[in-house]
Amino acid sequence: MSVDRVLITPTPFAAFDQRPIEMLSALGVDYVINPLGERPNEEQMIELVDGVDVIVAGTEPITERVMANAPGLRLISRVGVGLDNIDLPAAKRRSISVSNTPLAPVPAVAEMTITFMLVILRALHVSNARMHRGEWHKVIGRRITDVRIGIVGVGNIGRAVLKNLGALGVSEVLLHDNDSDLNLQERVEGLATQWVSLDKLLSNSDVITLHLPLTESTTNLISFRELMNMNKDSVLINTSRGGIVNEDDLYQVLNQGHLAGAGIDVFENEPYVGPLATVERCLLTSHMASASVDCRARMEVEATEEVVRFLTGQPLMFPVAESNNLANLRKRMKDL
Ligand code: 8YV
Repeated sequence: MSVDRVLITPTPFAAFDQRPIEMLSALGVDYVINPLGERPNEEQMIELVDGVDVIVAGTEPITERVMANAPGLRLISRVGVGLDNIDLPAAKRRSISVSNTPLAPVPAVAEMTITFMLVILRALHVSNARMHRGEWHKVIGRRITDVRIGIVGVGNIGRAVLKNLGALGVSEVLLHDNDSDLNLQERVEGLATQWVSLDKLLSNSDVITLHLPLTESTTNLISFRELMNMNKDSVLINTSRGGIVNEDDLYQVLNQGHLAGAGIDVFENEPYVGPLATVERCLLTSHMASASVDCRARMEVEATEEVVRFLTGQPLMFPVAESNNLANLRKRMKDL
């Protein structure tokens, strides 16, 4: 009997927790960790997948061309929640199962989002940059309890952000989601939530945070019109996916003095190199909302557990439906 071959693409892998390696060794599979040490592009993936049965995947492109070069591929197990890098219809056509780890990133991403809010509202990033240039610069900022926050996308991460805001003493939050039938009142005591349209949320919030998957309908969701619909002194935060905010438009509006600041962790093309880096009040980080020791370990362990389940004939814990639209994803969350 031939041994199953597993390709692990996110690097570093098992740097903080050896359990994924122990599980794969106990399973007796032939595993290889991406030797490139960085996210492979499509051409590199085509090379790497040759002969593999399973991919433990990061955010690299897993297109139909990649799948075509791995005729034995049966499972793509995502380390993380986003599915925009996988051609799901192609996976379905080829009977390749797909799973992800939707719950693992929640605490770390929610915490990073709150950190962005606190830092930007007090302009710590601006003061820090100026101090490093030898300038003594004092900013009069705003407290998180004194601003109105709007959450766009109220899935697991959006809800965790909401709970954290409640714990910080925020009393009122605006919400927008395609699915507004979620009963949130019982989850966040003492915090009044109001479901509103996206336009109303944008024009009535001081801080807007996005927690959406990248899909056809969310691509460029926040473009020039939406940015100009925000108040001049509002703040935009994106820790979800690049491509949802139009980066050129964001640069344009910031450059013309609109918005008090922005916090952007995710970009259309990563690593990001671009003009947002010239805007001092735009706080930029390198797709690291999930980059905490506990979160990385949990995502890797849960993704590997899916591999073990799959190769030992057990049902997957987080199977991905054929479409990555928000409603499907949300339904699965509710069913858990
Ligand atoms: C991970 C992410 O860093 O969960 C996601 O979708 O983007 C991040 O949390 C990424 O998946 C790398 O594996």
